[in-house]
Amino acid sequence: MSFSVEYINDELYMEKVAVRDITDSVGTPCYIYSYSSIENNFNSYSDSLSELNPLICYSTKANSNIAVLKIYSKLGAGFDIVSGGELKRVLLAGGDTSKVVFSGVGKTEAEIEEAIKAEILFFNIESIDELHAINRVAISLNKIAPIAIRVNPDIDPKTHPYISTGFKKSKFGIEIGNSINVYREASNMQGINIIAIDAHIGSQIFELSSFNDSLQKLTHMADTLIKENINIQYIDIGGGLGITYRKDETPPSMEEYAGIIKNHLMNKPYRPVIEPGRSLIGNAGIMVTKVLYTKEGSEKNFIIIDAAMNDLIRPAFYNSHHEIIPVMQNEKATNTVDIVGPICESGDFLATDREFPPVANGEYLAVLSAGAYGFVMSSNYNTRPRAAEVLVHGDSINIIKEREYFEDLIRGEKIPDFLSE
Ligand code: LLP
Repeated sequence: MSFSVEYINDELYMEKVAVRDITDSVGTPCYIYSYSSIENNFNSYSDSLSELNPLICYSTKANSNIAVLKIYSKLGAGFDIVSGGELKRVLLAGGDTSKVVFSGVGKTEAEIEEAIKAEILFFNIESIDELHAINRVAISLNKIAPIAIRVNPDIDPKTHPYISTGFKKSKFGIEIGNSINVYREASNMQGINIIAIDAHIGSQIFELSSFNDSLQKLTHMADTLIKENINIQYIDIGGGLGITYRKDETPPSMEEYAGIIKNHLMNKPYRPVIEPGRSLIGNAGIMVTKVLYTKEGSEKNFIIIDAAMNDLIRPAFYNSHHEIIPVMQNEKATNTVDIVGPICESGDFLATDREFPPVANGEYLAVLSAGAYGFVMSSNYNTRPRAAEVLVHGDSINIIKEREYFEDLIRGEKIPDFLSE
């Protein structure tokens, strides 16, 4: 799954649209997503796993714009959600709630109630306290809540520590060693119907052996539960497959990934559920920004752009690498530069010590692999309105989120009377 843009006569295009046509009409910074990349990535997942009839629950948190959710809904996806807000987004996008799974360590009773009423497929339960809360809410509504227990399989996904979730010491899930007892307890609860087992071990994973180990533990556990007459129908293996951020990086292919799942689940009575986010949309999106100034120092050269860590926090937060390329290609020799934003923090960079061709003020740059965990993690720090989002489909440019304005940022803020005098 490659980057969703290409140069045609030295000018960057997404599908049939010149990126410059978008910057001219929408301004910068802006996020731009390719419909056909989103569709191709989804089809590649569903084709590779078709023999297992998988339920692909797009991980809403990766990019939750309602137009994006609408695409997945039309492609037949389910959704992995982690909040009542995400459930509302799925409903607005016309998503099928019977294909929704609800994860997260801190579901409130209000969120649990909304999800039960929406008749989601199942809750991924992350603690015994939560199990009791769901049972209580279900009984009060005179309903039965379908559940999986999210087990913590204690597996090292060999990725960034902030996005590793399946270690024993992590806050997620219930330790696999204890989970059999929790299943037994749940099986006696009046408001609970056990139908699945779940794990999610981390994100941006390149190591297929980690998925293999997790699946091994999940299927073994499911087989044990079946022997105890606990009717496991689904094995939810979470998301986490990595993507190319550096142009020379090669993540496992979809066939290799699917092969691991098939090895474990072919001829088993369990339907696989997967919760991919990044690998579905990460490389279907870019962020485009304008060069404001350049500055040469004795130790560093800077390109100062109009996007900042508030627009794309991944480099500052995880030290992540995103390829950055000029919208108008120029083959000249490169300099070593830091590409930085206007925010008053030294951590406000999109790239450091990067080889980059000379650029002029006013030129546009494209930050690649920005479709997942990009706009959704943006903030208003330094009173910076958030960027616009655009969906490209063939030769059409569709604004799917208007740029914010100052007035949007101060909505709800008030000066108390005692200060107004
Ligand atoms: N399922 C669960 C329960 C999750 O917590 C996540 C991601 C996913 C599925 C989707 O994982 P994916 O296929 O996208 O790897 N902000 C970070 C990533 C955080 C991932 C959180 N959980 C980043 O920018 O790298």
